[in-house]
Order: sequence, then C-alpha cells, then structure tokens
Amino acid sequence: MRLFIAINFDEATKKKLIAIQDNLKTYSKGNYTRPENLHLTILFLGEVSDYSAVKKSMDANFHSCIDLVFDRVGKFRNSIYWVGIRDNPILNELYNNLCRDLKREGYKVDWNERFSPHVTLARKVVMDKQPDLSFKEFTMTAKRISLMKSERINGRLVYTELYGKTIG
Ligand code: 2AM
Repeated sequence: MRLFIAINFDEATKKKLIAIQDNLKTYSKGNYTRPENLHLTILFLGEVSDYSAVKKSMDANFHSCIDLVFDRVGKFRNSIYWVGIRDNPILNELYNNLCRDLKREGYKVDWNERFSPHVTLARKVVMDKQPDLSFKEFTMTAKRISLMKSERINGRLVYTELYGKTIG
C-alpha cells in the first residue's frame, strides 16, 4: 500500500482552498487536485505493508493541536502550484519526530532538513496569463492527523484514511 501521513481539512478550510484553486483555474490549464483530495502531507511513506509502528509513532508524537496559517501561493518547478503553510514549530517538531521514529523502525523516510508544508492545488500547470493568486491569509486548528492510503481506482486518485489520531 502507498501510504502517507496527512492533515485533512474541515469544510470551511476546504472552501477557502477551493476558492484559491478556482481563481488559479481562471489563469491556467492543468491537472487540478480534486477538492476531496486536498490535504497537507506531513510525511510520505511510499509502499508499506505493516503500518503498526506508524500508528504508534502518530500516537506518541501528536500531542498538541496545530494552528495552521495558510499564507501564500507558491510553485515547484514552475508547474506545481500550492498553498503554503507558515513556518510552524509544532508542525516541524511533529515532522522531525515522525521521521526519527520511522527511520529507526526501518521505513524508507526521506527526512528533509527543511520541511515545506503545502497543499498541492494543481500539477502540470500552464499559465495563460499573468496571474494574481494573492489571498487573505486564513487559519485552521488541526486536531487530528491521519494515515492515508493512496490508490488509483478507475484511473482516479483516491485517498482513504486508515487510521487517525485526534487530540482531546
Ligand atoms: P505533493 O502534494 O507535494 O505532490 C500523496 O501522494 C501525498 O504524498 C501528496 O501530498 C504528495 O505530495 C506526497 N508525495 C507523493 N510522492 C512523494 C514523494 N516521492 N516524496 C515526498 N512526498 C510525496
């Protein structure tokens, strides 16, 4: 199974992200993330069969809510557009602790020195005109992290939660 650890969004946050994506669409062509697939990846794990240690590490390391601030649109390699999350010490600590634990447990973890939390809006974007992708920053308090399975079903990317750890 192809797995990753993520934060999923409440409806109000999804709506704000969809509005930014809708604005992007007016300037471009591309492969836009389906609204139900919008998420923030904390750690990509790749192919995993036994995820018991992943659940244990999520339980051990997610112990306080995370105040996310969505503050900009950015791009990777000129064609992947995303909404960025402001640098966040609690999120960084969670990322580093998960990486440390899961590397020690033998999972293939690509532990980057600099974690860049983002929500991918679209890939393979070709701009038709100079865009204005600015928006008023917004926040969401994340009280749950999720272990997600990624699979293709009839050519569509589908994400399913296998496990979640909630605060409180
Ligand atoms: P992305 O949004 O930046 O593409 C499910 O595929 C999630 O895992 C996506 O959010 C994706 O990040 C991330 N992901 C997929 N393949 C990855 C890889 N090889 N390394 C890091 N993250 C990856």
